[in-house]
Amino acid sequence: MTRGRRWRAAALAVALLLGGCTGDDGRFRPGAADAGDPYVPGAGNGGYDVAHYALKIRYDPAGGRLTGQATVTATATAGLSRFHLDLAGLTVDRVRVDGAPAKHRRDGAELIVTPARGLPAGQRFTVEVAYGGVPQPLPSAELGDGGFHATRDGAIALGQPESASTWFPVNDHPSDKATYELAVTVPDGLAALANGVPKGTESRDGWTTWRWAEGTPMASYLTTLVIGNYRVSTGTHAGKPLVTAVAAGLPANGPAAASVARTGEIADFLAGWFGPYPFDAYGGIAVSDERIRYALETQTRPVYGPGFFRGDKPNTEVVAHELAHQWFGDSVSLARWSDIWLNEGFATYAEWLWAEHDGGRSVATSFADAYAATDWTKPSVDPGRAAMFGDAVYQRGALAVHALRRAVGDETFFRILRGWLAERRNGIATTADFVGYAERVAGRPLRPLLDAWLAGATAPALP
Ligand code: ARG
Ligand code: ZN
Repeated sequence: MTRGRRWRAAALAVALLLGGCTGDDGRFRPGAADAGDPYVPGAGNGGYDVAHYALKIRYDPAGGRLTGQATVTATATAGLSRFHLDLAGLTVDRVRVDGAPAKHRRDGAELIVTPARGLPAGQRFTVEVAYGGVPQPLPSAELGDGGFHATRDGAIALGQPESASTWFPVNDHPSDKATYELAVTVPDGLAALANGVPKGTESRDGWTTWRWAEGTPMASYLTTLVIGNYRVSTGTHAGKPLVTAVAAGLPANGPAAASVARTGEIADFLAGWFGPYPFDAYGGIAVSDERIRYALETQTRPVYGPGFFRGDKPNTEVVAHELAHQWFGDSVSLARWSDIWLNEGFATYAEWLWAEHDGGRSVATSFADAYAATDWTKPSVDPGRAAMFGDAVYQRGALAVHALRRAVGDETFFRILRGWLAERRNGIATTADFVGYAERVAGRPLRPLLDAWLAGATAPALP
């Protein structure tokens, strides 16, 4: 799924102005250089829709060098004379399209591929990229660095809103979800963890290859790769693989291990509210690197920074938050980042539900506390890039969710949530889509209420 329509229209207009010099009798035009999302200029691309990434990666922590081979299977959504992939840093050695050598060049974090002949709209094609180098994170003063971080014993790749382009060529925007398979080769003795179902390991000549497969569409920022010394536990939960990992530097029986150990139980609790768990595997990874200052809902296997587990007690609220994202954010994803409250409002609300269930404060108390603390001049919808992870998105978003519940009653509220998640499963959505869906299920207008809670400039009356 891509959102390049506006960009394609603009590109067409420019081409016409330039006298139609689009090559190949105008049937083929360059794909757009990004997805047109103002929160992430340059991220994503236009003109195609990726179905699958097959990645082979080798990483040597000694030199920090990565070598990769990516095979990207996509469908052209417009006639393409050339197209872009996002790739930050790294050196491209070779590109093939449908098996034939293709011209390629770099422009900043864009890899621009010109196939030997144009790709007609609707055509499926494969791009093979051989590349390598020493990956670096993407610097962001506002949001913190994202992407590939080399660590003392390995590496941690994660980040929102962008991270994937630091370790593989990608259409790096959540509007283009795809399935993945990954084979990661690391020195014997180190773990290499990623998303999805474990497909086994094999060792040869001092190197071990770890294989993973995510067969349910995944947004690129939800990919993760974690390499290093970890205590890995592989089991099953509800008939699906459950893989958790705790950095060897964290205490074996400490709060991180105890919190991640409750993954299955918390996922089941949430499934009771939201409907069936949407993926084929469960898990969680607790890292010890202090540069990871947040947790992230990486698909099937959230990553938790060490800051969540400082005390002596477990922190299961962060686990509930990241697991709630498996439904809200991962299964139903954003069409554009300005709607991030659709992820964070529901994940925060899930923390409230879990806390109440787990013997903590009631939902009513969480609501009252957040209501009292809210700055109503800051909107949940379109908060601005710098405020993507602010209280207006998380807390005010959760207030809006609870206001909806109070307005329509529990039965209708959970029917809305479950129906929404079932209807949009593996897809993308906007705020307007959600409001429209809620109105259809409730059979009455809800837009004025949700507008007031999400974006009004003054405190709405308590529902
Ligand atoms: N989505 C993550 C969570 O709420 C937060 C990511 C924060 N990212 C950042 N760059 N600060 O679970
Ligand atoms: Zn979150």
